[in-house]
This record gives sequence, C-alpha cells and structure tokens, in this order.
Amino acid sequence: MSKTYPASDEFIANAHVNAAQYEEMYAASVADPDAFWAEHGKRIDWIKPFTKVKNTNFEFGKVDIKWFEDGTLNVAANCVDRHVATRGDQTAIIWEPDDPKTPARHITYAELKDEVSRMANVFKAQGIGKGDRVIIYLPMIPEAAYAMLACARIGAVHSIVFAGFSPDALANRINDCGAVAVITADTAPRGGRRTALKSNADKALFDCSDKVKCFVVKHTGDQTTWVEGRDLDVKAMMADASTDCPPEEVGAEDPLFILYTSGSTGRPKGVVHTSGGYLVYAAMTQELTFDYHDGDIFWCTADVGWVTGHSYIVYGPLANGATTIMFEGVPTYPDAGRFWEVCAKHKVNQFYTAPTAIRALMGQGPEWVEKHDLSSLKLLGSVGEPINPEAWNWYNTHVGKGKCPIVDTFWQTETGGHMVTALPGATPAKPGAATKPFFGVQLEVLDPATAEVQTETAAEGVLCVKDSWPGQMRTVWGDHERFMETYFSQYKGYYFTGDGCRRDADGDYWITGRVDDVINVSGHRMGTAEVESALVAHETVAEAAVVGYPHDIKGQGIYAYVTLMNGIEPTDELRKELVKWVRTEIGPIASPDLIQWAPGLPKTRSGKIMRRILRKIAENDYGALGDTSTLADPSVVDDLIDNRMNRA
Ligand code: WTA
Repeated sequence: MSKTYPASDEFIANAHVNAAQYEEMYAASVADPDAFWAEHGKRIDWIKPFTKVKNTNFEFGKVDIKWFEDGTLNVAANCVDRHVATRGDQTAIIWEPDDPKTPARHITYAELKDEVSRMANVFKAQGIGKGDRVIIYLPMIPEAAYAMLACARIGAVHSIVFAGFSPDALANRINDCGAVAVITADTAPRGGRRTALKSNADKALFDCSDKVKCFVVKHTGDQTTWVEGRDLDVKAMMADASTDCPPEEVGAEDPLFILYTSGSTGRPKGVVHTSGGYLVYAAMTQELTFDYHDGDIFWCTADVGWVTGHSYIVYGPLANGATTIMFEGVPTYPDAGRFWEVCAKHKVNQFYTAPTAIRALMGQGPEWVEKHDLSSLKLLGSVGEPINPEAWNWYNTHVGKGKCPIVDTFWQTETGGHMVTALPGATPAKPGAATKPFFGVQLEVLDPATAEVQTETAAEGVLCVKDSWPGQMRTVWGDHERFMETYFSQYKGYYFTGDGCRRDADGDYWITGRVDDVINVSGHRMGTAEVESALVAHETVAEAAVVGYPHDIKGQGIYAYVTLMNGIEPTDELRKELVKWVRTEIGPIASPDLIQWAPGLPKTRSGKIMRRILRKIAENDYGALGDTSTLADPSVVDDLIDNRMNRA
C-alpha cells in the first residue's frame, strides 16, 4: 500500500469539494452529463444562453464533438469585462520580469480591459476579424496575455508559438494555419540572455506570404530590422487606439485557439479548441483542482507557449476573476532561489510547476528554499510528467513544509484541462499517482493488444476515455481525418491518450508514460519523427532514429542514432554541429542529448526499424533485447551495444 497524505482538517473544511461531495458530483457527472454540464456551464456568461448541452460522437469515421452548441459568448468579456464592475481595482495579472531588479507590474482588471481593447482595436484597424488566425510569438510579457484576449475579443483565432522555437518551426505554423499576422517582440530576455525574436520572425516570414503583417512589441528597445508596410509598432499604435471595443459575439463552437503539438508521426498537429466548452472546463478545473478562493494569488510557472499556460495562466484564472502571475524568467536566474523569492515577494497561495523544475532545484540544495518565507503557500501542483518519489518528497518537505496538499495533474494539450487529478479537499495525495478522474471524465484501462476493457479495479494497460468532456479538442486544424486517425482509430469508441497507466486497488490512476513515439523532455512533448527529419535534413546524415532514455533532470532525454553518408568521418565536431543543426531546425528543446554513430540500424527484413531494441540500448538495458531473429542483419546490434552512449 502506498502512503497517502490527506489535507489538514482545516483545509478540508474550507475546500470547495470534500470527499463526499466529490463522490456525489462525480456520479452525477457521468450519470447525466447533460444535466451536470448544463448547471456548470452557467459559471461563464453567455450572450445567448445555450439550450443544447452535449452533442458528441466518438465513433471512428463519425467523430464529432460539440458542447453548448447553440450558445453564444465572448471569451474576453468573460475573462475581463465581467469582472470590472465588481473587482476593477483588483490585480488581474502580476508580471514578474526576468531581472529581479526590474520592478514587477500589477495590472488591474480595469487596466486589463483597456489594454486588451486597445490591442483589439489595433488588430481590427489592420483588417483582422472573426475567424482570422494570428500567430503569437512572444516572451512571457503582459502583451502575450493582451494579444490572446484581444484575439478572443474580436473573434480571431490565436496560435501561440513558444518563443524557444526556431524560424523554421514558426514559418511552418504560420503557413499551416494560414495566419494573417504575427505578433512578436524585439528581443526576449530569459535567464539574463536575450533571444532575438524579431530577427527569428524576419527569417520565418521569408517563407510566408508577403501579406502577413508583423506586429512588434518594443519590449527591450533592442535594435531590429524594420520592413516598412509589414512591420507595425504595436505599443505606439495602442497608445493612439481607443479603449472602446465591443466584444464580438461568437458561437460556443467557434475556435478560440490552435496550439501545435507533437505526435508520433509527421509534423506537429494544430490542436483546435473552441470557445464555450474550453472556457467552462479551464475555469472549473482551475478553481476546484487548486481549491482557488477569491483573493488568492495563483502562480503557474508554465509558459503561455504551452497549453498549461493557456488554461492556467490566462483563461482559467481570469475567467474566475483570479490574480495570476506571469513570470518572464527561469527558476535558476539570478540564482536557484528565484521561484521561492517570487513566492515570498507576491505572497503566492497556489504554486503549480513541473517535476523537471523541482528536480533541477532539488539538486541545488534546500538552502535556496529555506532563505525565503513560504508561509503564504496553501497548495502545490505538479504537471507534465509523472513525479518521482524523491522529487515529491522534496517538494512536500522543503516547499510545502508538510502542510500543503500536492495535486499531481495529468492532462494534455488535447484535453484542454485536467483529466486525472486529486481534488485537495477530497482526495489524499499519493506520491506518484495522479489519482482520480475529474468530473465528467470516464476513464478506462484497455489491454493494448486486445483492446479489452479491464474490469478489475487493479489493472494495467493504456489509458482511454469513454465519453467526451467540454474541454476536449474538436479537431486537427484543416485535417479532421488526422484527428480521428490519431485519437480514435486504435481503440474503437474511445479517445486514446497515448499514455500507459496502472490503476491500483484503491482505483487510483498512475500514469506510466507515453506508449507511442512521443518523448517527454522536461515536461515538453517532442515527436521522435520530428527530430529524425531534422537530422536527415543535414547533408552528412544518411539515416537517423531517435528514442527517449531516462534523464535525471529532464525526465527523458533525446538519444539519436545517426548513420552518416558514405565517406563522412564521425567526429566530435560533427556531433556538435548536428546538435546545433537540430536547435536551429526546431529549437533548443529538441537538442539531442546523446548522439551515437550507427553504421547500421536494426531493421526487419521489410525495412522497419526496430525501435524497441534502440530504446533498450539507449536505456543501457541491453541484456534483455528479446527476439532479434527477425532482423535482416542481427550483427548491427552488437556494434550498437559496444558503442552505446548511455552507460549510467
Ligand atoms: C504527460 C501537458 C504523468 C503525458 C499538460 C501526456 C503527465 C503528456 C502528467 C501531455 C502527469 C502530463 N503525470 N504524465 N501529471 N501530465 N503528462 O500535451 O505523457 O504538453 O500525454 O500537456 O504529458 O503533454 P502536453
């Protein structure tokens, strides 16, 4: 039996949901989803109230997902305007800059409304309107939130590209969604260094239509090139713009945003989230999972370039009228106490981060935490990958001082919000387990080979979901077939998460990691196929196969087997050159940690690479490679073992 950690009696007494309420509400949410969500759909303001609630179909070939379909609303009005009357002077966003010597900024709901309206008017003046796509390529500055909400205000669809992505990756996304504009900044300070974002955007735009506009936030004031007629100084234009911009009425199922994410095959997919269901789900999970109460200061350390930043820095908290922190920097700058300094400075109540950050800080020693007053903290959250026991204990002891419930939240870009998580007043934490499904989420564990539903409580298999929830993605941008193929073809009638899981005798869920060719590097998803195609694009590379391997800090590292063109000398310089190449092709998060020169790859006679073998060797677990008799040339395996790079 795993040890469990319940919240204190006092926490439970004040919590939005206790154990009995969870049971009752969960049962109601699956017994009658229409009634349940009709009620919870009321947590946001509708222009025209919905009369239909759920209209969803998971049948392969006919997958169709609609929630609140005849309702109309405006997401920005929900996240901003509706709070102005009651809490106009309350801080909506606390912006904490990269350099701690630069003062933080507090943006009230009233100010937020003005800024968002001004930016929306700037967009409108350039002809941007309902349904148009706008790419946001910004650092973690308030303008990123303004841009998201300005798009929502006019019914435009935003797609954020993480500022760590390369010009190529940016260009692909601009072109895939047919964006009419990009908004970027001159340069982005992070950890004391600066990324030349505008210059990246310039490079990307070479590969895009000349009609794409480029809004530039002059953030640092660094010099950039300037293309007359294309580049627009968005801050200067906002200064002259009106603060009056009536929110556009959009349908519940009109897209709110597209977010590109990696999968097993091909290029990243544009995950489409729509307006009504997504907002209801983001808001409800933010309030209940973190037990957020009015007046609390909420800090999610993610970047708005990832889904966690969408749902738990911007949409969820702001829909609830919360105070949310946006942090421009990194956990280790100027020193390893930065997170805790910020928690103390802004009296943070709920803190939400990734295991990779905890492991990195744990390695620096507890003295960095102990220096700061963390008495404001009430709850801690974890997201992005399973949290290992050492990291959990360190988080609990040194950050939470043994008094903060820890919620381990399992979810995905595709799910819009939390799927499996403890609710702190209801579910005792169990280190390493994501525990219980959120309301309306019907989990099933399936046998990966037979697709049989595991009916015993204690079970192991792949994690699937039986029916829709409001935050679910609706389609892949421009490719509904790919949506159905990716998520609904393997296990008919179910949404397949791509993750393996174990359900213990208490009915708690433990996520065991991806069962497909996606690797989870520092809580970020990377498709092995993407890294492979970047590698083979280099003139010296004939073939490449990429797998994940256990990495102390990152969770998983990127391990690349590379076969060079005939006559090319494998040198350390070339290794460095290839790492640099992948960084410029995709971005630093895709950098291979280890590259092994492979004179040959283990292939079946039909030419299929046997990744299972490559994974084992990368894990330094080459003793039990299993059956290699189907290989065309079994001797390549010996060479790969002899020259393996991970000997840990
Ligand atoms: C993994 C991030 C274990 C999982 C919100 C999933 C987790 C992928 C957890 C989605 C967790 C996320 N425990 N694994 N608490 N949270 N994952 O789309 O493999 O960037 O499929 O969304 O991260 O990553 P994504």
